[in-house]
Amino acid sequence: MALQIQLTSGDATSVASDVLIVSVCQGAVAAHPTIVAIDKAFGGALLEQLKAVEFEGKLDQGFESPTLGHLKAKKVVLVGIGKAGELDHARVRAALAAAVRVHSGGTTRVIHLVLPDTDVELRSVGEAIALGAYRFTKYFTGDRRPKAELAKVVVHRAKGSVSAADKKSLELGVAIAEAVGIARDAVNEPPNVLTPEALAQVARAIARKHKLKITVLDKKGILAAGMNLHYAVGQGSENEPRFIHVSYVPKKKLKKIVFVGKGITFDSGGLCIKPAAGMGEMKSDMGGAAAVLGMIAAVATVRPDVEVHAIVGAAENMPDGAAYRPADVFTSLDGKTVEIINTDAEGRLVLADALTYATRLKPDVIIDAATLTGAALVALGKTCSAFYSTDDELARNLESAAKQAGEQFWRMPLLEELGEQLKSDIADLKHTADRWGGSISAALFLREFVGKVPWIHCDVAGPVLADRAKGMYPKGGTGHPVLTFLNFVEQAGRKSK
Ligand code: BES
Ligand code: MN
Ligand code: ZN
Repeated sequence: MALQIQLTSGDATSVASDVLIVSVCQGAVAAHPTIVAIDKAFGGALLEQLKAVEFEGKLDQGFESPTLGHLKAKKVVLVGIGKAGELDHARVRAALAAAVRVHSGGTTRVIHLVLPDTDVELRSVGEAIALGAYRFTKYFTGDRRPKAELAKVVVHRAKGSVSAADKKSLELGVAIAEAVGIARDAVNEPPNVLTPEALAQVARAIARKHKLKITVLDKKGILAAGMNLHYAVGQGSENEPRFIHVSYVPKKKLKKIVFVGKGITFDSGGLCIKPAAGMGEMKSDMGGAAAVLGMIAAVATVRPDVEVHAIVGAAENMPDGAAYRPADVFTSLDGKTVEIINTDAEGRLVLADALTYATRLKPDVIIDAATLTGAALVALGKTCSAFYSTDDELARNLESAAKQAGEQFWRMPLLEELGEQLKSDIADLKHTADRWGGSISAALFLREFVGKVPWIHCDVAGPVLADRAKGMYPKGGTGHPVLTFLNFVEQAGRKSK
């Protein structure tokens, strides 16, 4: 059943619910009308308790208490969101999402959420609720099935009335979070289910829902198009590769942005097989593709005046009699010959052909997202993406889009000297360099295929899959960096006006 989300200015303390969440600004606890009402029902015990635990409404501070029959709600939860004058909307969204996530498990069916008595963006409240309510439970049976499903969240304005535009903003936020959910689901699906063809089905469903144009090439089509690097990576798997292109073309197009995602549905390493420990995590090696598809769904929901394309190179990297091997040489879509060094560096091969295809659309910008290197993880940890750009202004735009989204990105240098290692003795290019600076040399390899188009490469190896829940991210597929990409597109639509 779909989650129902309502907006009202009515009193939250007189209605029945499983959980009553009240968001509170720092220093404004005792003045919040809902807190005043709850405190009254508790005979003064709430404010006393809050004082005892030093709850002041600081960002990320939390408090919970059963209501013991004093209220129609079973439980009261307070969430601190920081000082009213200096609200950081991304962090408020994360705090609210975390509160919904933590308190929507178990038997919770109905949550009432009271907003603070200051301006909060209703779109980000909608995002927070739906991001926090996300669960991936389809493979549980019997006792492992959730006891209840969150069915309804009622959002209360602390004061003021509710307009039709307010309701629209809240609903837009929910729809955006659902697009993020597409990316999370795709990462969470097991690799025997989420094959390249299944990823194409995800794209087809998005295209159908939003009436977007879609082209999918199968194994033969990829070969016929001349995407030999992509073809090579997929040739060792029974689950044949797919090339996916979804486009959002509005009437008014102020800019054209092409996104490219790495869609390796499982990366065993191929003949250069990975060690067993942790190999299962490589089901998330399509995290870049998932993000690009989630992004196009979000863009189609928001409908900015920017032409946006989502391109995915999907394949499974497996060892097999037909698999590609080290020392093989293939000709890329743009005619460069590439000598294969290590079959575990498959992502850059698939991306190379997809990037060439992207340049042919003559965009203003190309942005790719790929779980490309373990080196990016070593450099920045599991929660921050590395990015590279050939254009400083674009890099700044990505940084501000990420900040607004509350997602972590750090710019890395395209160090020319590392590129020298990409010269092959028998072909134009070798596709890997040595270990040191592995994320940088991977980026330099990709750069060979973007021509003169301004370009951003995002190595999202860490953040697409989380080993614990934090803020707006659940454990497992996080949906990173769908929100950053959506913001980037929306910014481009505003900036060129
Ligand atoms: N998909 C991996 C990168 C990766 C590793 C992502 C760990 C997330 C977590 C990629 O295809 C890969 O295997 N890269 C190699 C490249 C090397 C062979 C040059 C790597 O990083 O070790
Ligand atoms: Mn690999
Ligand atoms: Zn990979």
